[in-house]
Amino acid sequence: MSHRSTGTLVVGASQAGVHLAATLRELGDMAPIALLGAEAHAPYQRPPLSKEFLAGDGGHDGIAFRTDAWYADHRVDLVCGERVVDVALTESGPEGSGLARTSSGLEIAFDRLALTVGARPRRLAVPGSDLSGVLYLRDLDDAVRLRTALANASRVIVVGGGFIGLEAAAAARARGAEVTVVEAADRLVPRAVAPVVSQFYRQAHERRGATVLLDSIVAGFTGEHGSVTDVELADGRVLRADLVLVGIGVVPRTELADQLGLLCDGGIVVDSRARTSTPSVVAAGDCTVLPHPMTGAGLVRLESVPSAIAQAGVAAATLLGLSPDTRSVPWFWSNQGDLKLQIAGLSAGFDHLVLRGDPDSERFSVLYYRDGELLAVDAMNNPMDYLVVRKALTQGASIPAELAANADVPLKKMLAAAQTLR
Ligand code: APR
Repeated sequence: MSHRSTGTLVVGASQAGVHLAATLRELGDMAPIALLGAEAHAPYQRPPLSKEFLAGDGGHDGIAFRTDAWYADHRVDLVCGERVVDVALTESGPEGSGLARTSSGLEIAFDRLALTVGARPRRLAVPGSDLSGVLYLRDLDDAVRLRTALANASRVIVVGGGFIGLEAAAAARARGAEVTVVEAADRLVPRAVAPVVSQFYRQAHERRGATVLLDSIVAGFTGEHGSVTDVELADGRVLRADLVLVGIGVVPRTELADQLGLLCDGGIVVDSRARTSTPSVVAAGDCTVLPHPMTGAGLVRLESVPSAIAQAGVAAATLLGLSPDTRSVPWFWSNQGDLKLQIAGLSAGFDHLVLRGDPDSERFSVLYYRDGELLAVDAMNNPMDYLVVRKALTQGASIPAELAANADVPLKKMLAAAQTLR
């Protein structure tokens, strides 16, 4: 068994973990940093995996965050292919210090701990789900497997009409496969967008040749010689398939937090400064639930890269005893082939929405309001509306709903007018 010690142990080497380590250095922290990742690959961007990476033929180099030299130059001790399985804080030592052990038996003593462990794809627990050809998409190995399988697949079933499912469906169509999306809810992307956007997505994907089945539950998979051949729906329909992609959401990894006795509630509970219920331990990224980043109210799970980056920056500052600015406007994007959605703000709790433009033109936006205050925008192929709303939210400004509906007038002008009146 090998043993080493570090200053800050960052468990999880993806977007949040890398940014946390980089921010510690930017803030002048000189202490040793160990960045541990379970995957064999050096940290890389995940968003392209369901988009350009899937549609193209690039490799790890094209999506890597940093060069090997960067880790060396910044004295970030990157350890790939090691999964932390046990972690405990020392009872008698300095606050926040402890010991972690990996599955290969490596022991790491640390002075400070950051959990950036992310989330895993939710598994579909139905008969036949272990057949070959039933795939998930979260990490690089998944994406390579899916891309290889797509090259030889002519009938693709996508289970789950959320962002992952629809992005992959677009990539599969672009590769010429016949694609059917099977969604359990009565509309696509029900968690994140309003019905008008769901309806748009359905029509746009159908225009591009995909089939969309709503209110459809997968009862099981059957196959031949260990490979999937059919998807059985609960209502008795059977869909032929030579490849199935399941994209039905993610589950935050909370095992290590549980070992540490940290409060978890659908994710590791952190405050606006990324502190867990044991305040010396910080957490950031998809594994967390946090106060609303604009209002500070409640707890939200933000499965988004920009939010992970913002929160990781805050976590690094917190570890160094600084009081970072914690307010940030969440944003998000989803590219489904040529359908480019950008979201700013959080629309949850809206009581009114304004549609700008005609969804049939494939360029429009939806502004969300509560009590007359602007909450968020979903902008489809409309980067200008996205940018203006993001700016308004950053400034704490609004755009009157009764004006916003007029798509002939740029939102920029309305924001400027609203600011003059304030
Ligand atoms: N059968 C069919 N559909 C299902 C089932 C099921 N058994 N269970 C859930 N669904 C549907 C949901 O109704 C939803 O539309 O799967 C979809 C999952 O969508 P998301 O929750 O958005 O999750 P996913 O698309 O997997 O994305 C996971 O990756 O890109 C990121 O932002 C994305 O953070 C998200 C993550």
